[in-house]
Amino acid sequence: MALSTQVLLALLLQAVTSASGHAIHPSRGRPSIRAETTSPLTNCALFARSVLAANDTLPVNGTEPEPPYDLNPPGNGTLAPPIRPGPPPEIFPPQPDAGPGGSTYRDSAHFRLFYNASRSPISAVDEALRTLEGTFDCLIGDHGWRSTGLSYYLNRGYPGQERFSNYYKTNIDAVPKIGDGRVAGVMNVAREQGASWIQVEDTYLNDAFLLSHEYGHALHFHQRAWEQEQNARSWWETVANWVADMYVMSPLCEAARARHNQSGRDWFTNIELGRVVGESYRVIVDATPDGTQNYYQAWPFFTYLTNNPDHIPGLGTDAMRQLMVQYPENANETPLHTLQRVLDSAPDSNNITVGEVVGRYWTRMAHVDIGHAQASQAWLGQRWWMTFDNIERTGSATGVNGTVVNTYKPKDGRSARYMGANLIQLVTRGTVGSKEVTVRVKINTTYSSGSYTAAMAVRNIYDGTVRYVELVDGAGSVTAKITDEEVALVVANTPRKLIMYDGYQVRGHQVDVGMEFSFELTGATVMSPYWGESE
Ligand SMILES: *[C@@H]1O[C@H](CO)[C@@H](O)[C@H](O)[C@H]1NC(C)=O
Ligand SMILES: *[C@@H]1O[C@H](CO)[C@@H](O)[C@H](O)[C@H]1NC(C)=O
Ligand SMILES: *[C@@H]1O[C@H](CO)[C@@H](O)[C@H](O)[C@H]1NC(C)=O
Ligand SMILES: *[C@@H]1O[C@H](CO)[C@@H](O)[C@H](O)[C@H]1NC(C)=O
Ligand SMILES: *[C@@H]1O[C@H](CO)[C@@H](O)[C@H](O)[C@H]1NC(C)=O
Ligand SMILES: *[C@@H]1O[C@H](CO)[C@@H](O)[C@H](O)[C@H]1NC(C)=O
Ligand SMILES: *[C@@H]1O[C@H](CO)[C@@H](O)[C@H](O)[C@H]1NC(C)=O
Ligand SMILES: *[C@@H]1O[C@H](CO)[C@@H](O)[C@H](O)[C@H]1NC(C)=O
Repeated sequence: MALSTQVLLALLLQAVTSASGHAIHPSRGRPSIRAETTSPLTNCALFARSVLAANDTLPVNGTEPEPPYDLNPPGNGTLAPPIRPGPPPEIFPPQPDAGPGGSTYRDSAHFRLFYNASRSPISAVDEALRTLEGTFDCLIGDHGWRSTGLSYYLNRGYPGQERFSNYYKTNIDAVPKIGDGRVAGVMNVAREQGASWIQVEDTYLNDAFLLSHEYGHALHFHQRAWEQEQNARSWWETVANWVADMYVMSPLCEAARARHNQSGRDWFTNIELGRVVGESYRVIVDATPDGTQNYYQAWPFFTYLTNNPDHIPGLGTDAMRQLMVQYPENANETPLHTLQRVLDSAPDSNNITVGEVVGRYWTRMAHVDIGHAQASQAWLGQRWWMTFDNIERTGSATGVNGTVVNTYKPKDGRSARYMGANLIQLVTRGTVGSKEVTVRVKINTTYSSGSYTAAMAVRNIYDGTVRYVELVDGAGSVTAKITDEEVALVVANTPRKLIMYDGYQVRGHQVDVGMEFSFELTGATVMSPYWGESE
């Protein structure tokens, strides 16, 4: 197995760093994703912890019951004029009609948690309430989402809807086991009230990801978007995991975490890189229940929209809420269609398409550079164990001056499907003694159907900064420092025209057809797996 110079250097550097505890090179730029702070030893620990976190998170062994929910709207929803709910009270009154209730409970301002005192210590109950209140405070308090205290039915035009104009606590039931024990948490709906309530296995009360994930479903339900729509509800779990990650990890929730005594915790990201990066060629959100689905894992796309590292008009902190607000009732469109509406409605919109946004997202995912420090660290730690077995060499030619030009294409079944991408890590190949190498790419899409996005991502291994070079018409070059920079090629299947699809039924649909392409490469070869051998 041939270790490339840059990879070998990175390994050596990490070993030296781990021995001395200090970086041996001056760092520039963002310190949070410096390669040299990640020693092989901590990589292993991080890897193990992050797998643990992922298992903890849910589903334990199965998937949660999913929408549409069984609702019972009180009459004809076109008759009553809207009413304005009053300001939310400091402390919401209890909701007596959602869930089974019980005699032992603990209240916080916006939640009532029922538990069994001989099974759950009060410290775990309080920790769960801190997580729930913190999530409420961040998303609803700081970022303006519709309150979970308000009924689903309010202001949907139902006669007599005055009875839905109060705010209520959300009920949480801590139980020994849910159903057959295959999931650790479930969000339910009280159909007469239009109120959500949550069941959680009591051994998970300390699990911030789990609590925040279930509450994320409740939050989403009370936004009244997506959940009853066939073409959107496969993105349901993606939203819940984004809410969980947002609360637990994002700087945007740091103030709320601090207010609820949950800042500075030893929490690890639940990003599942094997699926989201290693299998990035799949349809961007695919919930087809066959073991390869990625809907729980696809949330970094939402993180990208929220952090908006490319400063795209219309995206940013409020992007996810806008995806709810701008989802037209009964539209049965995919959230990508809604995203186009969000982009178009930005005052300074410059006609950017969803395809371009998705292309930029994947370009950044080549090095997990989406403004999520822990996810970047996880990538630096885990990539050595990942297989990037998606590309094969189909030809090689040597020019008169000795320049080697290799031709590659995705392996069968691994070419980018709808709004997915091929993230292709390269090994740069300079001539002996040279410090720099020019990597040239020429993409051939003769047989490809849709439009695509292609770019190179060049990461400085010392300071973690990444520069991006878009390939115009599939061709371009970048000059990289051989020992300092890691180069990746990204080809995303991003058609200009959005496709309507049901994420639960992707197999056999046109979205599941990979984009055929090949590419010529000079100055580099394709890496597979990460830590060495190249095709
Ligand atoms: C996590 O789940 C995987 C697959 O389900 C399993 O192989 C692994 O042992 C689990 N890890 C832990 C720490 O439970
Ligand atoms: C609801 O009321 C509107 C307006 O009166 C009427 O056109 C519609 O048919 C009614 N729908 C149902 C389901 O009763
Ligand atoms: C509470 O848990 C204890 C211990 O597991 C059990 O014996 C008891 O029946 C439970 N109480 C209720 C109300 O479920
Ligand atoms: C996981 O699910 C499978 C298939 O439904 C079942 O046979 C198995 O017992 C479950 N394992 C656990 C730990 O619940
Ligand atoms: C946070 O901790 C402080 C100090 O221990 C305590 O006074 C406060 O009540 C706690 N707040 C919450 C929301 O738990
Ligand atoms: C956006 O599209 C509209 C309508 O096609 C066009 O008039 C406008 O010039 C475009 N704006 C930019 C910045 O390209
Ligand atoms: C070698 O030949 C290729 C193809 O003709 C050309 O693009 C490249 O610039 C040449 N390289 C050198 C070092 O002359
Ligand atoms: C593009 O690929 C097709 C199919 O492999 C091939 O026939 C064609 O010659 C290629 N075009 C170029 C310019 O390499």
